[in-house]
Amino acid sequence: MSQRPDLAMPLPMLPDTMAALEREFTVHRLWEASDRPALLAQIAPTCRFASAGGHAVVDRPLIEALPKLEIIANFGVGYDSVDTAAVAERGIIVTNTPDVLNEEVADLAMGLLLATAREIPQADRYLRQGRWLKAAYPLTHGTLRGRTLGIVGLGRIGKAIAKRAEAFGLRIAYYGRRRQGEVAYPYYDSLVGLAEAVDTLMVIVPGGAETKGMIDAKVLRALGPNGILINVARGSVVDEEVLAKFLADRAILAAGLDVFVDEPRVPQALIDLDNVVLLPHVGSASKHTRAAMGQLVVDNLVSWRDGKGPITPVAETPWPR
Ligand code: NAP
Ligand code: 8YV
Repeated sequence: MSQRPDLAMPLPMLPDTMAALEREFTVHRLWEASDRPALLAQIAPTCRFASAGGHAVVDRPLIEALPKLEIIANFGVGYDSVDTAAVAERGIIVTNTPDVLNEEVADLAMGLLLATAREIPQADRYLRQGRWLKAAYPLTHGTLRGRTLGIVGLGRIGKAIAKRAEAFGLRIAYYGRRRQGEVAYPYYDSLVGLAEAVDTLMVIVPGGAETKGMIDAKVLRALGPNGILINVARGSVVDEEVLAKFLADRAILAAGLDVFVDEPRVPQALIDLDNVVLLPHVGSASKHTRAAMGQLVVDNLVSWRDGKGPITPVAETPWPR
């Protein structure tokens, strides 16, 4: 039997995904290496495959350490931790895991919106603290009734969220870099314009330089004191310091956040507030969906190894070239 090709893996994946990869590749566990540069130098002459995902940063130095690299398979639809400029220069393909997580993330996004508007975690804490024995939980200022949801990034997941939000009776509008011809929801070509027109923002754009800090003071001011912000995109998209100040000053009503700038560290200023619901980046985190994402990582790598091209290449590294 021919030797299994080398695969450089910066961080571990789920046990089933690891097992599937180990059947097809010789997996080099970079996170376990006592001398990572030495391991990279050892596999440099032959290593054509790498994985990415989790909080692993696949940067220019790592890419340059592997001169034979042909493909990087990212676990996750968002691949902002991969330096796509550096890989595109070298003609390396990056793949991600689109679509298999749309419904799971959209479910979580709606759950987070409900939890935020109706204070579900706060009410749970109230009961556990024995406070219901003394008085009923106060009526919430927040409600979904009468709200208009502005979706920032009406892509695959954004559309799955919109479908759910329609069923909840919300009006919908969206912002993106361009109007989508086949979409009937009102389009805003400015984010501040969208924030002025709605009272609820759902952020589900990619991370990276283009979207960094796009939810800033101007947007939050436009959203106003009845505003609810939900971020299930990337922490980098929201100016966290400004958001904490708006929440503390009650300049917006509430926020629900699944993602943070410096995960898993979350600013104490947010933790201290009672009008924000905080989740530990669990948008896609069910066994079912994470297994499907892992399978797509394996399928992309195996397809490339077998000369059939990538299954889900990202826009920056299109296929066929
Ligand atoms: P997608 O289908 O590519 O949709 C992205 C949307 O964002 C598109 O509608 C795009 O519209 C818009 N967009 C892209 N760049 C933009 C920019 N610079 N300014 C304004 N709008 C922009 O991606 P997806 O599969 O829905 O995933 C979206 C993101 O969700 C991922 O990249 C990831 O970061 C995040 N995510 C988070 C979790 C979680 O666990 N919390 C799970 C999955 C994904 P235009 O091209 O028209 O601008
Ligand atoms: C994952 C995600 O939690 O797909 C994404 O972009 O953010 C999540 O599904 C993450 O990528 C795991 O590495």
